[in-house]
Amino acid sequence: MKLFYFTATGNSLSVAKSFGGENISMAQYQNGPSQNFEDESIGFIFPCYGSSFPTIVEQFIEKHSFKSKYTFAIITYGSMTMGAEKHFVDFAKSQDIKIDYINKIKMLDNSLKFFNIEKEIKKLPKKNVDVQLDKIKSDIKLKKHTIKNSNFIANHLSKKGFESYRKEIGDCDNLYTVESHCTKCGVCEKVCPVSNITVDNKVKFKGNCLRCYACTHNCPANAIRFKNEKSKRRFRNEKVSLKEIIESNNQNNL
Ligand SMILES: Cc1cc2nc3c(=O)[nH]c(=O)nc-3n(C[C@H](O)[C@H](O)[C@H](O)COP(=O)(O)O)c2cc1C
Repeated sequence: MKLFYFTATGNSLSVAKSFGGENISMAQYQNGPSQNFEDESIGFIFPCYGSSFPTIVEQFIEKHSFKSKYTFAIITYGSMTMGAEKHFVDFAKSQDIKIDYINKIKMLDNSLKFFNIEKEIKKLPKKNVDVQLDKIKSDIKLKKHTIKNSNFIANHLSKKGFESYRKEIGDCDNLYTVESHCTKCGVCEKVCPVSNITVDNKVKFKGNCLRCYACTHNCPANAIRFKNEKSKRRFRNEKVSLKEIIESNNQNNL
């Protein structure tokens, strides 16, 4: 089984790891030639962004080709996905990929723009992540075919969410402030999945932000602030180490 994942704070990677298959980071395949990936089963695991999916996932799927007897997708999310599943299934179809099964797992919401991470951490036990994950893994083991359709309004909101998320990303540099206790350790540079950060005598953002918050959440000194962030508290999934986030997202790992 090949599992293609994208992660900023480890939720999606923790799900990928639980399958015990071959985990492939989408961030590592942005540059270089297009590839043909083939396996008995293929899975795509990624976070919900803007009631839809991250552009890095879109670009990865557009660039490469995939062949398998059974293809599934799992969306990790924090509060609601609207029509994200349908939006992804339709997008995959446009790339000649038939999704046989798609489901979502409610985890911690890492969006600093909207959520107080302190409160999100307290809410986490009630989300019963392991129970949700066990059910999905059992469905996939049985090679179930399940595509739940969402209603017209939810689908519409996901399309709009995708458009507005696209408009927000890119030049976000003025939204970040690096505080003076930054140690210039370079972790923000290494966890950024789109190589948007360089660190020498200061931290520089280069106008190509994905707004994934990998830099802000994974900063060991908690020195990166996001404009109007809802809390100073940061998050990384407890089953994922900083080293694993770096290995997933640092382009120099190729
Ligand atoms: C830019 C951005 C947009 C997000 N949009 C949504 C959303 O529309 N709905 C939702 O439930 N969660 C949303 N989230 C929360 C993430 O989907 C959730 O925390 C996810 O599990 C993070 O996965 P990761 O740890 O693998 O990066 C968003 C997070 C970010 C950073």
